Amino acid sequence: MYSTKDIEDIIYKYLPKEEGYGKPVIEAMNYSFKAGGKRLRPMMLKLAFDMFTEEAYINGESELEKVAPFMAAIEMIHTYSLVHDDLPALDNDMYRRGQLTCHAKYGEDIAILAGDGLLNYAFETASKAFLAFPSNESVERSFVILATRPGIDGMIGGQVLDVTMSGKELTEEQIDYINLNKTAALIECSMGIGATLAGASKEDTDAVIQVARCVGLAFQVQDDVLDIIGDEAKLGKPVNSDEKNAKYNYATIHGIEKAKEYVNTMSKKANNILKSLQVVNEPAREKLMDLINTLINRDY
Ligand code: IPE
Ligand code: IPE
Ligand code: MG
Ligand code: MG
Ligand code: MG
Repeated sequence: MYSTKDIEDIIYKYLPKEEGYGKPVIEAMNYSFKAGGKRLRPMMLKLAFDMFTEEAYINGESELEKVAPFMAAIEMIHTYSLVHDDLPALDNDMYRRGQLTCHAKYGEDIAILAGDGLLNYAFETASKAFLAFPSNESVERSFVILATRPGIDGMIGGQVLDVTMSGKELTEEQIDYINLNKTAALIECSMGIGATLAGASKEDTDAVIQVARCVGLAFQVQDDVLDIIGDEAKLGKPVNSDEKNAKYNYATIHGIEKAKEYVNTMSKKANNILKSLQVVNEPAREKLMDLINTLINRDY
């Protein structure tokens, strides 16, 4: 399995230099990006890419030039979503990744701009793959996925229902919509781009996206469980944030036991779909399955 450090060695190279009049916001962007984090989305992007790439090419220079800008871009988008999620107007949380949240450290004005900056810089970063691979169809299609899944019919859409339903009981359909969009969409985006860049067939890419969807659903429900029974020091963020904001979710509505069962079932489903795939690189598939399994009982 890739370590967090392996992934950071790849994505840190794309961070902007802290200089010029924009420096205060660039500093805040880099602070939140580097604060820590599991780096799961770029890790899953890379593993999905590796599954459809021959061993001999996996860490080759040109392969990395194609995949690395997208790995950095997805982590920038994820980080922006966290910076904005923590703002006083949304979840109003003071700690993230074991450090003060962006607004707690730099003020709300800079944090809003740092979120904007990360989102925009994600596209500037991904466009480096265009320059390295002009007129490359897999790069073009990946750019479309990157532009779409985090958007209004994806991550932002999920966040909208999450905030507008604060204090209100949710239907099963609304829980699914929130989890599919605010969380699974970015994981689908990551793994979908990985498979696309590797040149996987449409059928295989769709199956990989199905895997990502199940992982994303499980991931958010486990996050909701940890908000209730987790340890702040391990999580690096406050527990009981959902209670504070009167947020209903799968775990608060159905209880911890049922939520854990759901995480288990969804993760098994993800692994079953993964098993049925025809991949080029078997070790990469196994690494991805291991990663999914470690997430089931995660406490971080
Ligand atoms: C937190 O994501 C937001 C959710 C979708 C639950 P992660 O748990 O992946 O956060 P980091 O990147 O490790 O900080
Ligand atoms: C947020 O969900 C998911 C995002 C799109 C950022 P949460 O609000 O539950 O995430 P945490 O618990 O603050 O990480
Ligand atoms: Mg939230
Ligand atoms: Mg939150
Ligand atoms: Mg949460």
